[in-house]
Amino acid sequence: EKGGYEHFMLKEIHEQPKAIQDTLTGRISEDGKHVVFNELDWDQNYANSINQIHIVACGTSWHAGLVGKAVIEKLTRIPVNVEIASEYRYADPIVSKDTLIVVITQSGETADTMAALREMKKRGNRVLAITNVVGSSAAREADDVLFTWAGPEISVASTKAYTTQLIVFYLFALFLAEKRNTCDSQTIADIVAALRQLPELAEKSLESAPIVQQFAQQYADKEDAFFIGRGLDFSVSLEGSLKLKEISYIHAEAYAAGELKHGTLALIVEGIPVIALATQTHLLEKTISNIVEVKARDAFVLALAWEDDTQVESTVDEVIRLPRTLDFLAPVVTVIPLQLLAYYASVARGNDVDKPRNLAKSVTVE
Ligand code: BG6
Repeated sequence: EKGGYEHFMLKEIHEQPKAIQDTLTGRISEDGKHVVFNELDWDQNYANSINQIHIVACGTSWHAGLVGKAVIEKLTRIPVNVEIASEYRYADPIVSKDTLIVVITQSGETADTMAALREMKKRGNRVLAITNVVGSSAAREADDVLFTWAGPEISVASTKAYTTQLIVFYLFALFLAEKRNTCDSQTIADIVAALRQLPELAEKSLESAPIVQQFAQQYADKEDAFFIGRGLDFSVSLEGSLKLKEISYIHAEAYAAGELKHGTLALIVEGIPVIALATQTHLLEKTISNIVEVKARDAFVLALAWEDDTQVESTVDEVIRLPRTLDFLAPVVTVIPLQLLAYYASVARGNDVDKPRNLAKSVTVE
C-alpha cells in the first residue's frame, strides 16, 4: 500500500505532480486561457458584492491560507484576513453580510475549523469550504465547496494536501479576478499557462532529494534551525519550519527575513542551520542582505533559489536550485524540498515519520 516507498509521507511527497494535475483537471477552459469552476454557480453580481474575505483554518491548512491571502489580494485587491480557527470563533470577528468566509481543511473534520464554519453560517455569512474529503462535515455544511482532489493522505504530516490547497487558491483568485475584471486577460492566460506546467515542475523539484538528504543527515543532531524568507517565501518558511518540528522534533523558527534583526538574531550562532528561501525577485536584494547578516554570525546557510539564479549562490554555503516558474507560483515548487528536508531529518533521527508523537491526522476535539 506504500507503493514501494518506506513511508506514506515519502509516497505522498512523490504523488504531488499527479495530485496537482488532478486538482487542475476540468478547471481550465479548452482554450487554456480561463478558469472554470463548474462547482461555483456565482454570478457576477455576487462576485462583485464580496468586500472582504476571511480565511479560517488550522495548522498546515492555515499556512496555505497565508499564500491564499497574498494571491487573492494581488489579483483581486479584495482585503483578506487569515485567521486561526481556534482563535477566530472567540474573537467576535468584524464581518458584514458581504464578507465571504473561506474555511480550509484537508480532512473536513477539524473541530476548531468546523466550529468557526457553523458560527459564521449562523451569523448569516456565506461559507466556502476548501477540503480534500468528499462527504466530510465541511463539504456537507458549507454553502459552496471546492475539492482539492489530492487523494487520500495517510501520513499525519500534510504534504500533497498543502500543495493542492495552494492550487485551489490560485484557481480561485483567477476565477474571482476574471469575474470582477481586476486583471487583464493576458495576465490571466499567462498565469493559467504557468499553472499547467506545475505538475512537471513539481517532478523536477523532487530531484533536489539527494542534496536535501545529505544536508538533513549532516544536521540531524542539531536542536535548532531557522527558516527565513520575505513575502511568499516567508509563508512557505512557516510551513517548512512546522514540518521540520512536527516530524523531526528539531526546534525551528520561521522568520520574516527582515524581522530577524528586530528579534532573535542573537540566537544565530556558529553552525546553526539557516534555510533561506530566495525566490521573490523584487525582494531579493533585501533577502540577500539578511542572508549576509546570518552568515556574518557563521550560520550554515542552505538557500532555495531559482535554477537561473546568479546572485544568491555566492553568499551561501549550499543552494537548491528550483525549476523556474513565475515568482508568484514559487510556493508550489519551494515547499517540496522543505518537505523532503523534514522527512529525511526525521528518518535520520529514527522517528516514526508517519505517526509523530502527540499529533493526530484530524483533531475532532476543540
Ligand atoms: C492537525 C494535523 O491535527 O490538523 C495537521 O496534524 C493539519 O497536519 C491540521 O494541518 C489541520 O487539519 P485539517 O484537516 O483541518 O487541514
